[in-house]
Amino acid sequence: MALWLGSLVPFYGVTLWGVYRGGRTRNDHLMAFVVTGCFGVYGLLGAGALLAWQARWPVLVGLGLGAALLAPPFVMLARRRDPGRGLGWWLMLASQPAYAFAFWGGCVLGIWLVSTLATGAASFWPGPWLWVALALALWGSVWGLALGQRVLRLRVEVPRARGPGLRLLQLSDIHFGPGFPLWKLRALCDQAAALAPDLVLITGDLVGPFSDSPGEHDGLVETLAALPAPVLFCPGNHDMPRWRTLGPELRAGGVTVLEDETVCLDVAGERVWVLGVGFPWGRARVPAAEVIRGAVPPDDASLRLVLSHGPAVLDHLSADSADMGFAGHTHGGPVSLGMLGLPVSILRLTASHDKGLHHRGGVWHYVHSGNWLIGMPPRIGTAPEIVVVEVVPSAGPAHSCC
Ligand SMILES: [Fe+2]
Repeated sequence: MALWLGSLVPFYGVTLWGVYRGGRTRNDHLMAFVVTGCFGVYGLLGAGALLAWQARWPVLVGLGLGAALLAPPFVMLARRRDPGRGLGWWLMLASQPAYAFAFWGGCVLGIWLVSTLATGAASFWPGPWLWVALALALWGSVWGLALGQRVLRLRVEVPRARGPGLRLLQLSDIHFGPGFPLWKLRALCDQAAALAPDLVLITGDLVGPFSDSPGEHDGLVETLAALPAPVLFCPGNHDMPRWRTLGPELRAGGVTVLEDETVCLDVAGERVWVLGVGFPWGRARVPAAEVIRGAVPPDDASLRLVLSHGPAVLDHLSADSADMGFAGHTHGGPVSLGMLGLPVSILRLTASHDKGLHHRGGVWHYVHSGNWLIGMPPRIGTAPEIVVVEVVPSAGPAHSCC
């Protein structure tokens, strides 16, 4: 037992050092600590298995998944380039159930510890309950991968709208990088193009941790620029560590970058005004509420949209200044029981925005669940989505349907 615990110290030390040294920004290093923290649960599970020698198989399978989790960070940091469809990609896939088992296994351990302390039971080891953690991890991963990019269609009535119907398509949190390589981005954009949008809105986090190799964003920019509709983008937290290069690359490639900026477009019979709110990381900037107050839509705008990475910004919108706000950032929970059909997530339990359509203060809000699924940062029990919003005129009270 002492030998096991003693071996964990150099194991975690080497893992953290290996992942950490490959990073180039504070964001990369933050994610390195997240990855290594996940391994902490595996160490506890192994120690518990040695102590109690119960439920060996779920622990052994879970530890095997943990070993698979080791590989992806090292592979992507060593290569620092797109994994394509090769071994690196399969290792990235293996990391998904490994992260999930670390989370669910940790939950089972925590619940068991509290209950045994409360009841005075002799055992501090959950034993067969770890099968539940393993089943949740495997089913959640299979469910998310099998769904792919789900298309969610919404129809929203806006009193000011005057055209025959404007089709907005929202993407968010693509996290282009080792977990979302170029071939997946092209497949996503092909699927988006086939939906014939009038405008494409991307609400931040185009890139992810460990994605700043020279020339790495060329394919990203070219693929977005090839979409058959104007692409409007506001930055997210994961974009900010690379913003000095990524922002100009996107602008030069034809993407309309809105960082506390507005634009007016005439599309499908509508005069569309869009405000994109920047993200506060890495610099001092005007608070979002002031940005929204200071951005006055023109009188002839028939549709007023606001893009933000963080959904809390949408709380500053009012019917005087906006018809609809779009956000992302939450990753659908980011831990959810969506794979069991239950509307439960960590964010929802804390009464925060997690995902979906809301109507507040006369303004529509849509919080996107994100388009990436694999790798860092981890997300568990939630699925990607492509959101298509059909905007049509309305004379009566606003409402929507799917
Ligand atoms: Fe994100």
